[in-house]
Amino acid sequence: MMIFEGDHILSVSQFDRDAIGKILTVSAQMTPYAMRQKRCHVLEGAILNNLFFEPSTRTRVSFGSAFNLLGGFVRETVGQENSSLAKGESLFDTARVISGYSDVIAMRHPQMHSVSEFAKGSTVPVINGGDGANEHPTQALLDLFTIQSEMKPHGKTLDGIHITLMGDLKHGRTVHSLSKLLSLYNDVHITMIAPKALQMPDDVLSVLDNAGHKITLTDTVEGNLACDVIYQTRIQQERFASPDEAELYRGHFSLNKEVYQQYCQKHTVIMHPLPRDSRPEANELDNDLNDFENLAIFRQAQNGVLVRMALFALTLGVENKLNQYEKPVTWHSQKSPLATNY
Ligand code: NCD
Repeated sequence: MMIFEGDHILSVSQFDRDAIGKILTVSAQMTPYAMRQKRCHVLEGAILNNLFFEPSTRTRVSFGSAFNLLGGFVRETVGQENSSLAKGESLFDTARVISGYSDVIAMRHPQMHSVSEFAKGSTVPVINGGDGANEHPTQALLDLFTIQSEMKPHGKTLDGIHITLMGDLKHGRTVHSLSKLLSLYNDVHITMIAPKALQMPDDVLSVLDNAGHKITLTDTVEGNLACDVIYQTRIQQERFASPDEAELYRGHFSLNKEVYQQYCQKHTVIMHPLPRDSRPEANELDNDLNDFENLAIFRQAQNGVLVRMALFALTLGVENKLNQYEKPVTWHSQKSPLATNY
C-alpha cells in the first residue's frame, strides 16, 4: 500500500488502484466538513502555499478552501510577474525558499514537468495543480470520484464504463491524467472525439492500449455519444502557437440540448473540468443544458474540495485523526446538500 505522508503528488502514474481507492474513501469522509455540518481543525496552524503561475479559478480556490476547511492557513502567489521567477530565479531556489515557509505547496505552472522540477527543491510535499499540457492529477481524481458517484444510481461502476472524451484532447491535461487513471480499471471503453490535429497524444493512447481497453478515435459527434459519461473540454487556446490556429477549432463540437437528445442515452452524464468557453463562437457546452439533472459539471467542481481535503489529510498524515479534531458549526450555514452518492 502506498504511503502518502510526506509524498509529492505530481502525476497520476504514481498511484495504483488501492491508492486511488484510499483517496476516494477519505474524500467521501470529508463531506460533513465541506457541507459545514461539522468543523474539523486537524490542520490548525499548518500553512499551505498556493503558487499559481497560470490562470485558475476552481483549482486555486478549492485548494485554498480545502485547506481552510481542515483548519489551516493559506498564503497565495498568483502570476509569475508577482514572483521572483520574473527576476530569473530558478524553480529550485523558489521551491527551497517557499518550502521553508510552508507545510505543503500547491503549484500550477505553464511548462510541462515544471512542477516536478520545482518539487526537487522543496522540503515539503508539492501537489501538482497543472503543469502545462502535461498533467492535472487532482482534477483526474475528482473526475473519478464524480464518475463513481454519478454512476452509482445507475448500478454502474468504473469497471465497464463507457466514457466519451471530446474537444481538445491534444492539449487538455485533464483528459491526459483521467485517461491514465482509467487505465487502472477493467473493461473500459473510451471514445475520443477530436479534430485529427487535436487527438489524444500517442503516449496516453498506448497506456490505454496496454491496459487492453477499447479505444474509438473519431472526429464526428454523430453516432458517437451513446455512452455513460461525456467529458467535454475547452479548446486550450493558450497552448496553441497562435490564437488564429485555435480559432480553426473553436465551436466544432458544441454540446446542446438538441445534440444530447438526438445522440445520448437517457442516463448519459455530462462532465467538463470547467471553465466552459461560453463565448458564442465556442459555446462547447450550451446553457440550454443547465437544468438537466444529468449535467454534473457543478457537482464535479464541488467534489474538488473533498478530494483536495483528502490529499492534504493524506500527505500530512492526519487522515485517521479527523474525528478527534471536530467542532460544532456555530453559524447558520446555507449550504445545499452535496449530491454525492459515493
Ligand atoms: C482545466 C485546466 O486548467 O487544465 N481547468 C481546471 O483546472 N478545472 C481545464 C481548462 O482550463 O480547460
